[in-house]
Amino acid sequence: MLPPIRVAVTGAAGNIGYALLWRIASGSCFGPDQPVILQLLEIPPGMPRLEGVVMELHDSAFPLVHDIVATSDPNVAFKDADACFLVGSRPRTADMDRADLIRANGPIFTGTGKAINDHAKKDVRVLVVGNPCNTNALIACASAPDLDDSCFSAMTRLDQNRAAGQLALRKGVPVAKVQDVFIWGNHADTMYPDISRATVDGTPATEIYDSSWIRGEFLKTVATRGKAIINARGASSAASAASAAVDHMQDWWMGTDGRIVSMAIPSKGWYGVPEGLMFSFPVVVEGGKIHVVDDLEVDDFARQKIQQNVDALSAERDAVKDLL
Ligand code: NAD
Ligand code: LMR
Repeated sequence: MLPPIRVAVTGAAGNIGYALLWRIASGSCFGPDQPVILQLLEIPPGMPRLEGVVMELHDSAFPLVHDIVATSDPNVAFKDADACFLVGSRPRTADMDRADLIRANGPIFTGTGKAINDHAKKDVRVLVVGNPCNTNALIACASAPDLDDSCFSAMTRLDQNRAAGQLALRKGVPVAKVQDVFIWGNHADTMYPDISRATVDGTPATEIYDSSWIRGEFLKTVATRGKAIINARGASSAASAASAAVDHMQDWWMGTDGRIVSMAIPSKGWYGVPEGLMFSFPVVVEGGKIHVVDDLEVDDFARQKIQQNVDALSAERDAVKDLL
């Protein structure tokens, strides 16, 4: 049996937390042989709900769970953490864009980043889910000066999974047949789902789908799916978000075996994206290291979409410069 790893989850009593914790505890994320110590953070008003969640986790009798810590102190929650899921923050309502959350949620990530800096393992893997996730990840990263910026990422995997789902539905095949579709940019309406490297059952996606559908209905459906779910459910996506968070962290932990996936990471200037912006790129993971696939041909349409995301993320960065 491997020694247990410490996994911190913020907003653990929220909707995403409720779906995410059971996947981590069952071994779906870090593997069936990897014990975990769950370190769960909530704000004080959330602590009674978190106590209930902890009771249910105990009642689930997961063999891989070696301990559960429930706390409202970030210094405790991030102590020696190997992996962190930063979910705790408020979701938008139907009348908002994700970027409208920036002044409400951004400040959370300064304290979180600092506590991770001071207490987590130096090679901790941090996934920011709370919106606007790219810029919140930028804030957390900037608040952790002692850690390498490669420790930080934000989640566009839900968008990738949505894109794969739409391609599969359109062709009438199981989603497992869809490979290597990925997302450029921001987890916002400007995102660009790119099918240039995607295949469906081995056939290039560009040979299957009409480019007017890809650039029209497909792009719009993926980019605005979060709002469509809020309108339909009366609450933002939770189970699919938790599932995408597991996919992202599992790929980071175990590698992608050559598959291209989407992760928002601090840019090093790839594809002309200004250094430091937390930008979703096509990546592969090997030996725990994320590598951007940096040799793709980018057509004029993609170039223009990438620029829209650079502009949007630069504007978000300007809006929180007091937090960086
Ligand atoms: P929720 O309101 O159900 O739960 C959020 C929890 O966070 C609450 O229990 C709250 O008490 C807690 N919280 C608030 N501030 C905190 C803090 N400073 N520290 C610790 N905990 C704190 O919301 P949810 O549905 O779980 O969504 C959480 C976030 O995830 C939202 O910002 C939402 O927009 C975002 N989200 C992102 C994606 C994505 O793809 N990146 C997908 C879905 C949702
Ligand atoms: C999503 O994409 O479902 C989440 O980011 C929630 C939202 O506000 O859209």
